[in-house]
Amino acid sequence: MSLWNQARRSARMNPSIIREILKVTEQPGVMSMAGGLPSAETFPVEAIREACDRVLSEAPQAALQYAASEGFAPLREWVAAHLGGMGLKAEASQVLITTGSQQGLDLVGKVMLDAGAPVAVETPTYLGALQAFNPYEPIVAPLAGDDDGPLPASIEALPHDAPGTRFAYLLPNYQNPTGRVLPEARRAALVQAAQAARVPLVEDNPYGDLWFDAPPPAPLASRWPEGVLYLGSFSKVLTPGFRLGYLVAPQALYPKLLQAKQAADLHTPGFNQRVVHEVIRQGFLDAHVPTIRERYRRQRDAMAEALQRHLPEGSRWQMPQGGMFFWVRLPEGCDAMALLPKAVAAGIAYVPGAAFYAHAPDPRTLRLSFVTLSPQEIADGVALLGGVLREHLALQAEVTP
Ligand SMILES: Cc1ncc(COP(=O)(O)O)c(C=O)c1O
Repeated sequence: MSLWNQARRSARMNPSIIREILKVTEQPGVMSMAGGLPSAETFPVEAIREACDRVLSEAPQAALQYAASEGFAPLREWVAAHLGGMGLKAEASQVLITTGSQQGLDLVGKVMLDAGAPVAVETPTYLGALQAFNPYEPIVAPLAGDDDGPLPASIEALPHDAPGTRFAYLLPNYQNPTGRVLPEARRAALVQAAQAARVPLVEDNPYGDLWFDAPPPAPLASRWPEGVLYLGSFSKVLTPGFRLGYLVAPQALYPKLLQAKQAADLHTPGFNQRVVHEVIRQGFLDAHVPTIRERYRRQRDAMAEALQRHLPEGSRWQMPQGGMFFWVRLPEGCDAMALLPKAVAAGIAYVPGAAFYAHAPDPRTLRLSFVTLSPQEIADGVALLGGVLREHLALQAEVTP
């Protein structure tokens, strides 16, 4: 008998497949399109160094002391004003600063989910959300979708009987992993369906500022404030190293999330919050984020061109209008997981799409990040991938007459 008898929920905690894959792919000579990291070249190191100095000279003791669980008040006010600019009216009192938006997902799971409670997710969805929700032992219902996002009818079909589906987790902007964005009409229809079915929504939006041609439509939370919990992050527009995210909760839910936050870590590091606030308080992001957009757009274009040139016929992908990822569906007979070792041996790594499905993974899918390689590396890497796929399909054609 084991000395350490673990809670039932621990059986639902699994290593992130992506992190396991990254270990295999992080070999010298392998170009990686597998990571979900932002480009480190976008980190504003000088601005952060100066902000650290200012915080340490102007408020050293407060910055290094324990702080409020809700977060640093001026940062909460900044978040509320920033969201107001996107059409989402929120009070600073509704903002909870979290240790990355990943913590926000965990807090939502802790407060909202019981064993056996239904929760709905997109097909496919962000793997980290599945990791956050699964330990609370919900029944995960996949929402059917198309290139424009989840279908409103799939919300209508969710379990309604009291207490009903606890929430539907949606990623409206440049979704991880598919890169898709919900058009205006789909947003309106989804919110209407959720209101009619009385299914609250959790809206996760770490990529919304990384649009290439036009900003995305207004957030879901702006359409149904009391029914949508909104999550945001500084990871993709500044740096993930500070672990700074936030949630905006309807007043009815905020106190419980705050209590869960207190139990988890008392508060998000106050020094980090002050430094980030010092960096951004006078409009820094207004000039900085467009430089990230411009950079990522060039990389997106390079990948689009390379995919067109090198992937075998029958491959399918959608052009992402923002964010960091292409989502590719390979031709029949290709299993992205089975082909990964060959791709890595050839010098190119990706994430098999199977990792992102709650149920019934599509083995032909894979995710490619375009933000950490140069346009030339992207062209070379996709050429290698195309070579591996063509070779596999040619071999297959030989064995299946
Ligand atoms: C969709 C989505 N949500 C949440 C996160 C977590 O971000 P963070 O905890 O760095 O704010 C990520 C990270 O990649 C993500 O892709």
